[in-house]
Amino acid sequence: MHRLDAEKAIRLLTVGNLRNAKLRVKRVQDYVLIPLNIDVNIDDLGKALEGVQWAICEDNFEEVSTGRTYKDILRGRIPEHVLSRLPSSFDVIGDIAVINLKEGANDVLKYGVVIADALMGVARNVKSVYVSVGGLQGEFRLRALHYLGGERRTKCVHKEYGIKLRVDIAKAYFNPSLAEEHRRVAELVKDGELVADLFAGVGPFTLHIVTKRRAKVFAVDINPDAIKCLLESLKLNRSRLIGEVVAIAGDASSFISVVRRGAFNRVIMNLPRKALDFLPYVKEAVAVGGVIHVYVIGESLEEVLSKVRGELDPGMHIVGATRVLDYSPRKYIFRVDVRRAA
Ligand SMILES: C[S@@+](CC[C@H](N)C(=O)[O-])C[C@H]1O[C@@H](n2cnc3c(N)ncnc32)[C@H](O)[C@@H]1O
Repeated sequence: MHRLDAEKAIRLLTVGNLRNAKLRVKRVQDYVLIPLNIDVNIDDLGKALEGVQWAICEDNFEEVSTGRTYKDILRGRIPEHVLSRLPSSFDVIGDIAVINLKEGANDVLKYGVVIADALMGVARNVKSVYVSVGGLQGEFRLRALHYLGGERRTKCVHKEYGIKLRVDIAKAYFNPSLAEEHRRVAELVKDGELVADLFAGVGPFTLHIVTKRRAKVFAVDINPDAIKCLLESLKLNRSRLIGEVVAIAGDASSFISVVRRGAFNRVIMNLPRKALDFLPYVKEAVAVGGVIHVYVIGESLEEVLSKVRGELDPGMHIVGATRVLDYSPRKYIFRVDVRRAA
Protein backbone atom coordinates (compact mmCIF):
# COMPACT_ATOMS: atom_id res chain seq x y z
CA MET A 1 0.00 0.00 0.00
CA HIS A 2 1.02 3.61 -0.33
CA ARG A 3 3.31 4.83 2.45
CA LEU A 4 0.78 7.48 3.49
CA ASP A 5 -1.69 4.71 4.40
CA ALA A 6 0.89 2.52 6.13
CA GLU A 7 0.62 3.79 9.69
CA LYS A 8 -3.16 3.45 9.72
CA ALA A 9 -2.97 0.01 8.06
CA ILE A 10 -0.40 -1.31 10.54
CA ARG A 11 -2.66 -0.19 13.40
CA LEU A 12 -5.77 -1.80 11.85
CA LEU A 13 -3.97 -5.06 11.03
CA THR A 14 -2.49 -5.25 14.53
CA VAL A 15 -5.87 -4.67 16.19
CA GLY A 16 -7.42 -7.30 13.90
CA ASN A 17 -4.63 -9.77 14.81
CA LEU A 18 -3.79 -10.13 11.11
CA ARG A 19 -0.26 -8.79 11.06
CA ASN A 20 2.83 -10.96 11.62
CA ALA A 21 4.68 -8.85 14.16
CA LYS A 22 7.69 -11.19 14.13
CA LEU A 23 8.60 -9.92 10.66
CA ARG A 24 9.80 -6.46 9.76
CA VAL A 25 7.64 -4.05 7.71
CA LYS A 26 9.42 -3.15 4.45
CA ARG A 27 9.49 0.09 2.43
CA VAL A 28 9.77 -0.07 -1.39
CA GLN A 29 9.96 3.47 -2.80
CA ASP A 30 6.53 5.01 -2.10
CA TYR A 31 4.99 1.73 -1.01
CA VAL A 32 5.05 -0.29 2.20
CA LEU A 33 4.85 -4.09 2.51
CA ILE A 34 3.30 -5.34 5.76
CA PRO A 35 3.87 -9.03 6.60
CA LEU A 36 0.65 -10.90 7.47
CA ASN A 37 -0.06 -14.00 9.49
CA ILE A 38 0.03 -17.13 7.34
CA ASP A 39 -3.65 -18.03 7.86
CA VAL A 40 -5.35 -14.66 7.25
CA ASN A 41 -8.73 -14.75 5.63
CA ILE A 42 -9.13 -12.40 2.67
CA ASP A 43 -12.58 -11.24 3.86
CA ASP A 44 -11.20 -10.34 7.29
CA LEU A 45 -8.43 -8.43 5.54
CA GLY A 46 -10.93 -6.53 3.39
CA LYS A 47 -12.98 -5.58 6.47
CA ALA A 48 -9.95 -4.52 8.51
CA LEU A 49 -8.52 -2.37 5.73
CA GLU A 50 -11.74 -0.72 4.59
CA GLY A 51 -10.94 2.66 3.03
CA VAL A 52 -7.28 1.76 2.40
CA GLN A 53 -5.95 0.80 -1.05
CA TRP A 54 -3.98 -2.44 -0.79
CA ALA A 55 -2.80 -5.49 -2.72
CA ILE A 56 -1.35 -8.85 -1.75
CA CYS A 57 2.12 -9.91 -2.86
CA GLU A 58 4.74 -12.44 -1.75
CA ASP A 59 8.13 -11.33 -0.50
CA ASN A 60 10.99 -12.10 1.90
CA PHE A 61 10.88 -10.23 5.19
CA GLU A 62 13.59 -9.86 7.80
CA GLU A 63 12.81 -11.13 11.26
CA VAL A 64 12.41 -8.56 14.01
CA SER A 65 15.56 -8.82 16.07
CA THR A 66 15.17 -10.45 19.46
CA GLY A 67 18.31 -8.64 20.53
CA ARG A 68 20.41 -11.84 20.59
CA THR A 69 22.74 -12.61 17.74
CA TYR A 70 23.97 -16.08 16.76
CA LYS A 71 27.37 -15.07 18.14
CA ASP A 72 25.76 -14.25 21.52
CA ILE A 73 24.33 -17.78 21.60
CA LEU A 74 27.71 -19.28 20.68
CA ARG A 75 29.67 -17.42 23.36
CA GLY A 76 31.00 -20.02 25.82
CA ARG A 77 29.97 -22.91 23.55
CA ILE A 78 32.85 -22.70 21.08
CA PRO A 79 36.44 -21.51 21.65
CA GLU A 80 36.91 -17.73 21.63
CA HIS A 81 39.40 -17.84 18.72
CA VAL A 82 36.77 -19.59 16.54
CA LEU A 83 34.02 -17.20 17.65
CA SER A 84 36.14 -14.18 16.79
CA ARG A 85 36.60 -15.49 13.22
CA LEU A 86 32.84 -15.49 12.62
CA PRO A 87 31.33 -12.35 11.08
CA SER A 88 28.26 -10.84 12.79
CA SER A 89 26.25 -10.80 9.58
CA PHE A 90 25.53 -13.50 7.03
CA ASP A 91 23.72 -13.76 3.70
CA VAL A 92 20.30 -15.35 3.53
CA ILE A 93 19.35 -16.74 0.12
CA GLY A 94 15.88 -18.28 0.19
CA ASP A 95 16.02 -20.45 3.31
CA ILE A 96 19.79 -20.99 3.17
CA ALA A 97 22.28 -18.94 5.22
CA VAL A 98 25.85 -18.39 4.06
CA ILE A 99 28.53 -17.20 6.45
CA ASN A 100 31.33 -15.54 4.49
CA LEU A 101 34.91 -16.13 5.66
CA LYS A 102 37.99 -14.60 4.07
CA GLU A 103 40.11 -17.71 4.51
CA GLY A 104 40.41 -21.20 6.08
CA ALA A 105 37.30 -22.90 7.43
CA ASN A 106 38.75 -25.93 9.27
CA ASP A 107 38.37 -24.54 12.81
CA VAL A 108 34.84 -23.31 12.01
CA LEU A 109 33.85 -26.63 10.41
CA LYS A 110 34.79 -28.49 13.61
CA TYR A 111 31.86 -26.71 15.31
CA GLY A 112 29.62 -26.75 12.23
CA VAL A 113 26.46 -28.17 13.81
CA VAL A 114 26.69 -25.94 16.91
CA ILE A 115 27.19 -22.82 14.77
CA ALA A 116 24.38 -23.80 12.39
CA ASP A 117 21.97 -24.45 15.30
CA ALA A 118 22.79 -21.07 16.85
CA LEU A 119 22.20 -19.30 13.54
CA MET A 120 18.94 -21.15 12.87
CA GLY A 121 17.92 -20.22 16.43
CA VAL A 122 17.96 -16.51 15.59
CA ALA A 123 16.96 -16.71 11.90
CA ARG A 124 13.91 -18.97 12.04
CA ASN A 125 13.36 -19.00 8.26
CA VAL A 126 16.78 -20.57 7.71
CA LYS A 127 16.87 -24.34 7.13
CA SER A 128 20.46 -24.90 5.90
CA VAL A 129 23.73 -23.25 6.85
CA TYR A 130 26.93 -23.08 4.79
CA VAL A 131 30.21 -21.28 5.09
CA SER A 132 31.82 -19.70 2.02
CA VAL A 133 35.57 -19.22 1.96
CA GLY A 134 37.60 -16.73 -0.06
CA GLY A 135 34.81 -14.93 -1.94
CA LEU A 136 33.69 -15.55 -5.50
CA GLN A 137 35.82 -17.67 -7.74
CA GLY A 138 36.32 -18.59 -11.40
CA GLU A 139 34.49 -17.63 -14.56
CA PHE A 140 31.09 -18.57 -13.09
CA ARG A 141 31.74 -16.42 -9.95
CA LEU A 142 30.91 -19.27 -7.54
CA ARG A 143 31.39 -19.50 -3.77
CA ALA A 144 33.64 -22.21 -2.29
CA LEU A 145 31.02 -23.70 0.04
CA HIS A 146 31.30 -25.98 3.07
CA TYR A 147 28.27 -27.46 4.78
CA LEU A 148 27.79 -26.54 8.46
CA GLY A 149 24.37 -27.88 9.45
CA GLY A 150 20.63 -28.08 8.85
CA GLU A 151 19.28 -29.58 5.62
CA ARG A 152 22.07 -30.60 3.27
CA ARG A 153 20.92 -28.89 0.08
CA THR A 154 22.03 -25.89 -1.97
CA LYS A 155 18.86 -25.29 -4.03
CA CYS A 156 16.20 -22.87 -2.86
CA VAL A 157 13.68 -20.28 -4.01
CA HIS A 158 14.63 -16.73 -3.11
CA LYS A 159 12.08 -13.93 -3.35
CA GLU A 160 12.81 -10.38 -4.50
CA TYR A 161 9.86 -8.01 -4.43
CA GLY A 162 7.49 -10.94 -4.87
CA ILE A 163 9.47 -12.46 -7.76
CA LYS A 164 10.50 -16.09 -7.21
CA LEU A 165 14.10 -16.83 -8.14
CA ARG A 166 15.36 -20.40 -8.36
CA VAL A 167 18.91 -20.39 -7.01
CA ASP A 168 21.46 -23.16 -6.55
CA ILE A 169 24.10 -21.47 -4.41
CA ALA A 170 26.69 -24.16 -5.25
CA LYS A 171 26.25 -23.97 -9.01
CA ALA A 172 25.38 -20.38 -9.90
CA TYR A 173 26.16 -16.83 -8.75
CA PHE A 174 23.59 -15.01 -6.68
CA ASN A 175 23.89 -12.01 -4.37
CA PRO A 176 20.83 -11.07 -2.28
CA SER A 177 22.23 -7.56 -1.71
CA LEU A 178 21.51 -6.69 -5.35
CA ALA A 179 17.70 -6.88 -4.98
CA GLU A 180 17.23 -3.11 -5.02
CA GLU A 181 19.59 -2.74 -8.00
CA HIS A 182 17.67 -5.37 -9.99
CA ARG A 183 14.44 -3.50 -9.33
CA ARG A 184 15.95 -0.07 -10.06
CA VAL A 185 17.26 -1.09 -13.49
CA ALA A 186 13.98 -2.84 -14.39
CA GLU A 187 12.10 0.37 -13.57
CA LEU A 188 14.09 2.16 -16.30
CA VAL A 189 12.93 -0.24 -19.03
CA LYS A 190 9.99 0.79 -21.18
CA ASP A 191 7.35 -1.39 -22.84
CA GLY A 192 8.46 -2.58 -26.26
CA GLU A 193 12.20 -2.48 -25.55
CA LEU A 194 14.62 -5.15 -26.74
CA VAL A 195 17.07 -5.80 -23.89
CA ALA A 196 20.27 -7.87 -23.63
CA ASP A 197 21.12 -9.09 -20.11
CA LEU A 198 24.62 -10.28 -20.97
CA PHE A 199 25.89 -11.78 -17.72
CA ALA A 200 22.47 -12.79 -16.54
CA GLY A 201 23.35 -15.37 -13.86
CA VAL A 202 20.10 -16.90 -12.61
CA GLY A 203 18.33 -13.98 -14.31
CA PRO A 204 17.21 -11.53 -11.60
CA PHE A 205 17.43 -8.43 -13.87
CA THR A 206 15.60 -10.34 -16.60
CA LEU A 207 12.84 -11.55 -14.27
CA HIS A 208 12.30 -8.10 -12.73
CA ILE A 209 11.99 -6.67 -16.26
CA VAL A 210 9.58 -9.20 -17.74
CA THR A 211 7.29 -9.16 -14.71
CA LYS A 212 7.07 -5.37 -14.99
CA ARG A 213 7.31 -4.49 -18.69
CA ARG A 214 6.19 -5.83 -22.07
CA ALA A 215 9.82 -6.06 -23.12
CA LYS A 216 11.80 -8.86 -24.77
CA VAL A 217 14.98 -9.84 -22.95
CA PHE A 218 17.85 -11.96 -24.30
CA ALA A 219 19.43 -13.38 -21.13
CA VAL A 220 22.93 -14.77 -21.73
CA ASP A 221 25.20 -16.57 -19.30
CA ILE A 222 28.17 -18.84 -19.88
CA ASN A 223 27.15 -21.03 -16.92
CA PRO A 224 24.51 -23.56 -18.09
CA ASP A 225 23.38 -24.16 -14.48
CA ALA A 226 22.57 -20.46 -14.09
CA ILE A 227 20.43 -20.59 -17.25
CA LYS A 228 18.76 -23.76 -15.94
CA CYS A 229 17.76 -21.82 -12.79
CA LEU A 230 16.40 -18.98 -14.94
CA LEU A 231 14.27 -21.43 -16.95
CA GLU A 232 12.86 -22.85 -13.70
CA SER A 233 12.12 -19.34 -12.42
CA LEU A 234 10.22 -18.53 -15.61
CA LYS A 235 7.93 -21.46 -14.75
CA LEU A 236 7.63 -20.37 -11.10
CA ASN A 237 6.56 -16.85 -12.16
CA ARG A 238 4.48 -17.93 -15.17
CA SER A 239 1.32 -16.13 -14.04
CA ARG A 240 3.01 -12.74 -13.71
CA LEU A 241 5.12 -12.66 -16.89
CA ILE A 242 4.14 -9.91 -19.31
CA GLY A 243 7.39 -9.74 -21.29
CA GLU A 244 9.29 -12.40 -23.19
CA VAL A 245 12.63 -14.11 -22.43
CA VAL A 246 15.12 -15.82 -24.72
CA ALA A 247 17.57 -17.67 -22.43
CA ILE A 248 20.97 -18.50 -23.93
CA ALA A 249 23.72 -20.59 -22.31
CA GLY A 250 26.86 -19.26 -23.95
CA ASP A 251 29.57 -16.65 -24.15
CA ALA A 252 28.35 -13.04 -24.17
CA SER A 253 30.93 -11.86 -26.72
CA SER A 254 30.00 -14.64 -29.18
CA PHE A 255 26.34 -13.68 -28.79
CA ILE A 256 26.70 -9.90 -29.03
CA SER A 257 29.12 -9.99 -31.95
CA VAL A 258 26.62 -11.77 -34.21
CA VAL A 259 23.58 -9.60 -33.48
CA ARG A 260 22.48 -6.92 -35.93
CA ARG A 261 24.11 -3.47 -35.52
CA GLY A 262 21.92 -1.30 -33.26
CA ALA A 263 19.73 -4.28 -32.31
CA PHE A 264 19.19 -3.48 -28.62
CA ASN A 265 17.56 -0.58 -26.77
CA ARG A 266 19.32 -1.57 -23.57
CA VAL A 267 22.25 -3.78 -22.57
CA ILE A 268 22.98 -4.81 -18.98
CA MET A 269 26.62 -5.75 -18.33
CA ASN A 270 26.84 -7.01 -14.75
CA LEU A 271 30.30 -8.60 -14.70
CA PRO A 272 32.17 -5.90 -12.75
CA ARG A 273 35.69 -7.35 -13.03
CA LYS A 274 35.59 -7.73 -16.81
CA ALA A 275 32.61 -5.91 -18.32
CA LEU A 276 34.75 -3.22 -19.94
CA ASP A 277 36.55 -5.87 -22.03
CA PHE A 278 33.20 -6.61 -23.71
CA LEU A 279 32.33 -2.97 -24.42
CA PRO A 280 33.84 -2.88 -27.97
CA TYR A 281 31.29 -5.52 -29.10
CA VAL A 282 28.41 -4.11 -27.08
CA LYS A 283 28.80 -0.55 -28.44
CA GLU A 284 27.93 -1.78 -31.94
CA ALA A 285 24.83 -3.59 -30.73
CA VAL A 286 23.14 -0.59 -29.09
CA ALA A 287 20.53 1.42 -31.01
CA VAL A 288 20.62 5.21 -31.27
CA GLY A 289 18.93 6.43 -28.07
CA GLY A 290 19.74 3.09 -26.40
CA VAL A 291 21.49 2.66 -23.04
CA ILE A 292 24.26 0.42 -21.70
CA HIS A 293 24.38 -0.25 -17.94
CA VAL A 294 27.95 -1.27 -17.27
CA TYR A 295 29.18 -2.34 -13.81
CA VAL A 296 32.76 -1.42 -12.97
CA ILE A 297 34.99 -1.76 -9.89
CA GLY A 298 36.98 1.20 -8.63
CA GLU A 299 38.13 3.18 -5.61
CA SER A 300 36.16 6.27 -6.58
CA LEU A 301 33.47 7.43 -8.97
CA GLU A 302 36.00 9.66 -10.77
CA GLU A 303 38.29 6.70 -11.44
CA VAL A 304 35.43 4.59 -12.81
CA LEU A 305 34.03 7.40 -14.98
CA SER A 306 37.41 8.02 -16.52
CA LYS A 307 37.86 4.27 -17.26
CA VAL A 308 34.46 4.13 -19.00
CA ARG A 309 34.94 7.45 -20.84
CA GLY A 310 38.17 6.08 -22.34
CA GLU A 311 36.21 3.24 -23.99
CA LEU A 312 33.40 5.27 -25.59
CA ASP A 313 32.88 6.20 -29.26
CA PRO A 314 32.05 9.76 -30.29
CA GLY A 315 28.29 10.13 -29.89
CA MET A 316 28.21 8.04 -26.69
CA HIS A 317 27.69 9.86 -23.40
CA ILE A 318 27.65 8.94 -19.73
CA VAL A 319 24.17 9.84 -18.51
CA GLY A 320 24.28 8.48 -14.96
CA ALA A 321 26.41 6.68 -12.38
CA THR A 322 25.61 5.10 -9.01
CA ARG A 323 27.60 3.32 -6.33
CA VAL A 324 25.93 -0.08 -5.99
CA LEU A 325 27.91 -2.28 -3.55
CA ASP A 326 31.11 -2.48 -1.55
CA TYR A 327 33.63 -4.78 -3.25
CA SER A 328 36.56 -4.77 -0.79
CA PRO A 329 37.58 -2.40 2.02
CA ARG A 330 38.50 0.44 -0.37
CA LYS A 331 36.85 -0.62 -3.61
CA TYR A 332 33.27 -0.33 -4.76
CA ILE A 333 31.08 -1.54 -7.60
CA PHE A 334 29.54 1.30 -9.62
CA ARG A 335 26.91 1.21 -12.32
CA VAL A 336 27.61 3.61 -15.18
CA ASP A 337 24.80 4.38 -17.64
CA VAL A 338 25.93 5.20 -21.18
CA ARG A 339 23.61 6.48 -23.93
CA ARG A 340 24.27 6.27 -27.66
CA ALA A 341 23.12 9.61 -29.04
CA ALA A 342 24.33 9.06 -32.61
C1 LIG B 1 28.38 -11.04 -11.22
S1 LIG B 1 27.47 -12.37 -11.93
C2 LIG B 1 26.00 -11.46 -12.36
C3 LIG B 1 24.75 -12.26 -12.30
C4 LIG B 1 23.45 -11.49 -12.43
N1 LIG B 1 23.50 -10.40 -13.36
C5 LIG B 1 22.93 -11.03 -11.08
O1 LIG B 1 22.70 -9.83 -10.90
O2 LIG B 1 22.74 -11.87 -10.20
C6 LIG B 1 28.29 -12.55 -13.45
C7 LIG B 1 27.79 -13.70 -14.34
O3 LIG B 1 28.50 -13.62 -15.57
C8 LIG B 1 28.69 -14.94 -16.08
N2 LIG B 1 29.78 -14.88 -17.07
C9 LIG B 1 31.12 -14.79 -16.86
N3 LIG B 1 31.78 -14.71 -18.04
C10 LIG B 1 30.83 -14.73 -19.02
C11 LIG B 1 30.88 -14.66 -20.44
N4 LIG B 1 32.02 -14.56 -21.10
N5 LIG B 1 29.72 -14.69 -21.12
C12 LIG B 1 28.52 -14.80 -20.47
N6 LIG B 1 28.42 -14.88 -19.12
C13 LIG B 1 29.55 -14.83 -18.40
C14 LIG B 1 28.96 -15.77 -14.84
O4 LIG B 1 28.65 -17.13 -15.07
C15 LIG B 1 28.03 -15.10 -13.79
O5 LIG B 1 26.81 -15.79 -13.71
